[in-house]
Amino acid sequence: MWTMIESLPDQYRWAAELEAPTTSPASTVLVCGMGGSGISGDFARVVAAAEGVDVRIHKDYGLPSWVEHVRPLIVAVSYSGNTAETLSSVEAALDFGLPVAAVTTGGELSRMAGVQDFPAVLVPAGMQPRAALGYLVGAVVRLVAAASSLGDPIPMLLEAANETADLLGEERAGPGHDQARRIAAALAGRLVAVWGSAGPTEVAAQRWAKQFHENAKTPAYWSIVPELNHNELVGWASSHHGLSSATGLVVLRDQGEIPEIARRFDLMPDLIGQSVHRAGEVWTTGTSVLARAATASLIGDLVSVHVAEAAGIDPVPVDVLTELKNRL
Ligand code: PA5
Repeated sequence: MWTMIESLPDQYRWAAELEAPTTSPASTVLVCGMGGSGISGDFARVVAAAEGVDVRIHKDYGLPSWVEHVRPLIVAVSYSGNTAETLSSVEAALDFGLPVAAVTTGGELSRMAGVQDFPAVLVPAGMQPRAALGYLVGAVVRLVAAASSLGDPIPMLLEAANETADLLGEERAGPGHDQARRIAAALAGRLVAVWGSAGPTEVAAQRWAKQFHENAKTPAYWSIVPELNHNELVGWASSHHGLSSATGLVVLRDQGEIPEIARRFDLMPDLIGQSVHRAGEVWTTGTSVLARAATASLIGDLVSVHVAEAAGIDPVPVDVLTELKNRL
């Protein structure tokens, strides 16, 4: 897993160097995909939202009924190319006569692209889908830019590459590893909650939780400010449940967060007190939304693998997911 994480800067560079994909113009893009592939749509959504471009996400079979009147471009993302829900979305899109584009390594999705003559960006194969984040996010963002008014994505992809490379450093000695080791030590043996806020740290918090599930084989969940200030905070600020020794909280802060959000983050530690173990605060780096999301996510990738290693767990296999797919 280390090698795959260390290839992330090169993955973003690969996407920056990709020949511009051709696709139908669209004012709305609907990204369909699951798990490690589907999260590329969440990244594209926050990147596009910052420029007023409408990117939506679908993580289910078929398509939502609104597509019939909005008529979005469907971007189907599946690393394996064989994910049932994603293939079902493509079939529905073809039935509705919607434009489709794909991001995949091959499989049935690639075959359908050939037969139905829709564009497919082929990303390098041989990885775990979640480890191909830079390829998948990069390819989806390039497709969104080709279809919509999103500005040139190449500078943000290169910035994501450079910022993640700076955090990784050489031989696992970069500042990202130092920070990740500290947080991993504080989280060992605990259930993990990750807080972010709308934008880059929203998608990063989601990525953290999913990487904990899959790499560290540990339940984790994520939520965002300000919504959590209207419900979840009550649970954390109470100690009667006795969970403080079993849980750890990581807070993701964004360089671009508005003062109203910063004030909420600043006030919460005092209100929570000792009710939950605060394992660390991580700040995004870089200027573009993509680089900020990529850097906060990378620290989570590293923490999840450090936690797995400390517990003697192999971060790579996700056997139970495969078992369920086989039984369906
Ligand atoms: O991490 C994983 O392996 C999963 O979340 C997969 O990404 C998910 O099951 C979808 O498969 P694929 O990415 O091949 O479409």
